[in-house]
Amino acid sequence: MSFDSIRAIRWENNRLLLLDQRLLPQQQIDVVCTDVAGVADAIRNMVVRGAPAIGITAAYGLVIAGQLRFAQDKARWQTTIAADLELLAKSRPTAVNLFWAIERMRGLIAGLPAQQDPAAALLAEAQLIHRDDIAANQRMGQLGAALIQPDSAILTHCNTGSLATGGFGTALGVIRQAYADKKVTKVFADETRPWMQGARLTAWELVQDKIPVTLIVEGAAAFLMKQQRVQWVILGADRITANGDVANKIGTYSLAVLARHHGVKFMVVAPTSTIDMQLASGADIPIEMRGEEELLQLGGQRLAPQGVQAWNPVFDVTPATLIDAIVTERGVVTEPDRQKMLAMMQKSDS
Ligand code: MRU
Repeated sequence: MSFDSIRAIRWENNRLLLLDQRLLPQQQIDVVCTDVAGVADAIRNMVVRGAPAIGITAAYGLVIAGQLRFAQDKARWQTTIAADLELLAKSRPTAVNLFWAIERMRGLIAGLPAQQDPAAALLAEAQLIHRDDIAANQRMGQLGAALIQPDSAILTHCNTGSLATGGFGTALGVIRQAYADKKVTKVFADETRPWMQGARLTAWELVQDKIPVTLIVEGAAAFLMKQQRVQWVILGADRITANGDVANKIGTYSLAVLARHHGVKFMVVAPTSTIDMQLASGADIPIEMRGEEELLQLGGQRLAPQGVQAWNPVFDVTPATLIDAIVTERGVVTEPDRQKMLAMMQKSDS
């Protein structure tokens, strides 16, 4: 498919390469991960970010871990690798895809024959997780784009594209597909403070793939909607609970409130690996708090005066009642609630 050229996670020559998203758009440099501590650091420090992308990265991290642990102790590697699983699980708390991928790899590891080299089986599983994510995104692209009327303008938040996933993207995948279908008149991306995923990453991705994009500051969203210049807000998710509440990048909740007030439709696009049916509601989701310096500084330069404190939750929770549609690879849930989410999860892929 056209409009889809970027792959940020690559396994090449038995090495994990991650496009360093902290340096984009100025520099395109890969970080090479050679051990599991390096993979956990890359996730924690935002070399790689975005819910599905960190799950896929953790799966590849466990390929590396399996190779190293087996080389150290062929008889006990399935026991010693537990420390690597735990290390990766501590890297970021909110996106459930990380834990989903770790649990899937844990299940595989437990079932492998003892004393046999696990490298091929671990790699095959990580590559399957990666491939399935791209396929889910392409499917969601079609399902989501079908909801959009021709001549629609879209506002998106954070980065949900090829950089945030195995490829193609969740919300940005829907935008890619709707643009390819000639339904989109304009894409607005908000800058997404403080990490600027919108200004740096979404804008870069769309420019690379030749989809016109217009940047706004987050504070401009209300005025944009008031002027009826957008028909849809489309964004991704880091965790969706059993009742359809959505944790996503800080600022998502404000956009949902604004959208409802102005009669703008609100779509969340996420694979089922982002859905956590174990949690009853968004109140149960652990919300990551990051360092004050992310707000007090800009580009490494001190911005706020000394003596100021900062409060930096990096995700918020949008209640299901403010969401018009949740799009997954298994289907679309409109006006989500517990029953509809359960019915969708019980379907096989559509
Ligand atoms: O802190 P980040 O950049 O990892 O946050 C990412 C987001 O919130 C994305 O919007 C979300 O993971 C959906 S990505 C497909």
